Amino acid sequence: MLVQNPDGVFFDGTFGRGGHSRLILDSLSPTGRLYATDKDPQALAIGRALEKDDARFEIVAGSYADIGQALPTGQLLDAFCWTWAFHHPSWMMPVAALVL
Ligand SMILES: C[S@@+](CC[C@H](N)C(=O)[O-])C[C@H]1O[C@@H](n2cnc3c(N)ncnc32)[C@H](O)[C@@H]1O
Repeated sequence: MLVQNPDGVFFDGTFGRGGHSRLILDSLSPTGRLYATDKDPQALAIGRALEKDDARFEIVAGSYADIGQALPTGQLLDAFCWTWAFHHPSWMMPVAALVL
């Protein structure tokens, strides 16, 4: 299960075509939030379209290493995920408190 707190705040570091992000959004309540990053222009275009459809979602161009720029200052995260390659599993890392 990707989302244990439907009201929580999540981060998808490798948005890609948005498959994992959509799964997360499907599990979020109206007050949950999902932030994402990707470096690929095509991924960003898909993410921008998703932003228009879903106010709980926001994507920022760049690396997940720049997570501090993708999240509001001081934002706590419930969990984050990223996908290293298509043949590896995605990872969902719960965090007790991540303050940026
Ligand atoms: C396998 S795809 C992700 C698939 C995605 N989870 C989905 O459900 O569609 C990997 C993505 O990671 C992105 N990527 C690679 N290195 C990155 C980095 N350092 N920061 C952010 N995104 C990165 C690529 O542009 C690509 O879109």
